[in-house]
Amino acid sequence: MKVLVLGGGGREHALVWKLKQSPRVTQIFCAPGNAGIAQEATCVPCDLKRLDSIVEAAIKISPDMVVVGPEVPLMLGVVDEMHRRGIACFGPTQAAAQLESSKSFAKAFMTRQRIPTPLYVQIHSVAEIRPALANFSAPIVVKADGLAAGKGVVIAQSKDEAAKTAKEMLEGSLGEAGRHVLFEECITGEEISFLVLSDGERVAPLVAAQDHKRIGDGDTGPNTGGMGAYSTATLIDEHMREWLLRHIARPVIAGMAEEGAPYKGILYCGLMMTAKGPQVLEFNCRFGDPETQPILMRLESDLLEAFEASIEGRVSDGVFKWSSDPSVCVVMAAGGYPGTPETGKAIHGLERAAELTGVKVFHAGTGESGGELVTAGGRVLGVTARAATLEAAVARAYEAVHLIKFDGMQFRTDIAHRRLKK
Ligand code: GLY
Repeated sequence: MKVLVLGGGGREHALVWKLKQSPRVTQIFCAPGNAGIAQEATCVPCDLKRLDSIVEAAIKISPDMVVVGPEVPLMLGVVDEMHRRGIACFGPTQAAAQLESSKSFAKAFMTRQRIPTPLYVQIHSVAEIRPALANFSAPIVVKADGLAAGKGVVIAQSKDEAAKTAKEMLEGSLGEAGRHVLFEECITGEEISFLVLSDGERVAPLVAAQDHKRIGDGDTGPNTGGMGAYSTATLIDEHMREWLLRHIARPVIAGMAEEGAPYKGILYCGLMMTAKGPQVLEFNCRFGDPETQPILMRLESDLLEAFEASIEGRVSDGVFKWSSDPSVCVVMAAGGYPGTPETGKAIHGLERAAELTGVKVFHAGTGESGGELVTAGGRVLGVTARAATLEAAVARAYEAVHLIKFDGMQFRTDIAHRRLKK
């Protein structure tokens, strides 16, 4: 089978790497890919923000299946477009992807379907800010309704800060994404990424993971796309998995079908495990990045078959087989990130890191210049390791990290700290 993966980050490198292990995948393409993906797949240029550019790449390749990595093509309706052209495509339709592309859609849907989520109010104009804030006490979560490339959520420490942030969003600081704004109750607890695969009717859970969103050790400093993640059987137990399926995943899939937008693909539930039980902070309509890297390191069954099961309506519990070994991914980011990243810096030491047992280095923002591998984005590499214990996986990942060098590199030294403490 000929497979085309859309995207060019660490998540897509992990998807390409895992799909390639399927004996049924004979050719694999990635659009646009990156320098690391280019060592494992044929990369083709593509602008993922333009449907016509994606269609052009797909027509050229004529794949048997398209796998969509990031959210923007889903929001643009790439799955609908591929289906119109008779090409099998893994992921939700544009209507179903509103669970991620519109926070107000997701919150209203959860309220209708009685899915546990923090209280919220939606506003459309500056005049509504103060009356809406009367319902909240600080800290307050301010959310842009649309996709804002990770910049759409601010935790305001006072009502004045919430009002100022909301005004800026409504006045265009995030473009169209901030046309509508939500205020949300700020809840506390431990965040867990719980992903399921669906065929529009049935669901199969993936192993859970935990992201580390802040740039600095101890969860300090500004938010990023994710500085590392790990997956281990102790994140959620059997009883909790069943609870999450019964009270969140299955009701979402049944509700979307009932409301005329059946959901196929990966549903990423961003959860806060509060003292009162799990609450949904957000849905993503795709695999998480960097969670995908450690999750797929633990997958022992054929990913292509899981994607086919979703497309063809035959998802079952047996679709995934997982290793009990924990895994961890440490993100190495460029200097300047999460602001403007320093690009063009030569990367050294990858060969030695790749020789370590149980290690896979996934590329994200990498490129080539003058025959050298160089930094080309904010998050550069996802150094991922699997081992018999979480301690061993963490030690192995950091052993690999310490072999890799580029000017300005930044990484957290405490990935998985919450579990290691426990
Ligand atoms: N790791 C969070 C995300 O993929 O959105």
